[in-house]
Amino acid sequence: MVESVVNAPEVKDLIRRVAGYDQKGGDQRLKQIIERVVTDMCRTIEDFDVTPSEFWTACGYITRLGQAKEVGLLVPGLGIEHFLDLFMDEKERRAGLEGGTPRTIEGPLYITDAPLSKGEARLDQDADQGLVLFMEGQVTDTHGKPVPGAIVDVWHANTKGGYSHFDPSQSPYNLRRRIETDSDGRYRFRSILPSGYGCAPDSPTQELLSALGRHGQRPAHIHFFVEAPGFRKLTTQVNFVGDKYLHEDFAFATREGLIVEPVRHADPAEIKARGLNEPFATIHFDFTLNREAANLPEAVVVREHAKAA
Ligand code: DHB
Ligand code: FE
Repeated sequence: MVESVVNAPEVKDLIRRVAGYDQKGGDQRLKQIIERVVTDMCRTIEDFDVTPSEFWTACGYITRLGQAKEVGLLVPGLGIEHFLDLFMDEKERRAGLEGGTPRTIEGPLYITDAPLSKGEARLDQDADQGLVLFMEGQVTDTHGKPVPGAIVDVWHANTKGGYSHFDPSQSPYNLRRRIETDSDGRYRFRSILPSGYGCAPDSPTQELLSALGRHGQRPAHIHFFVEAPGFRKLTTQVNFVGDKYLHEDFAFATREGLIVEPVRHADPAEIKARGLNEPFATIHFDFTLNREAANLPEAVVVREHAKAA
């Protein structure tokens, strides 16, 4: 028997044919990637002596993952979405780009075309016991110059950790808005402080995490896309100081510079001034955008998004 089955000429030839190298047509780059992926898979099978039954168990898992529409949920759990951020950061650094608000993963729960308004918005439509949140800030360039007309696209979970559209108990676009910054580059919104998110216990994603001895919890967070003509699109989130899962995010999205401390206001005069009858929280957070330049890697990530029906 040869030392390594994967290295045997017969298998090398097989994988080259699998990748279409013996054919004129097709995409050259794709051929290279498929050759690598199939070779690495065969190597994994050989090195760990993966049995056919184990292999088909994995195929069954991937099928169920797709049927449950959870590919986009497992990718962050495997750290791949965070790796894509680290890779983009490094490519930007090598191209000489510095500064700007750190990026972090988009996650699988964005939907397009949330209601658009100028300067301010209220995100919470559905009744929820959450602490009222007023969040505001300014979008600037890396020199501190305000960016008017930027679009702050914000989405977050309710206090049960659910996202509208994916959670049928919520009304369409609950906790999702697009806000155009005013002439000073400012945005502000009223909402409720979200709770952390957890993978459904019976989901294929949680099934794999559990098999690895891992939890499927995320700290509470608020997602943002920030876009303006001439600037690089920013995909990011903020987390909150003191959250149990702040540094134990199953999706590995927490980053320095994105951790905020919601300020709790319980003073009766302040409560009254806001037209409320209970304490509330405020967050101030400014976004710094990098200018677009021809030598930089593409910042807009093309990926399928759900559309509200
Ligand atoms: C997942 C959920 C999120 O809310 C998020 O922001 C990122 C990932 C997930 O289920 O994988
Ligand atoms: Fe999320």
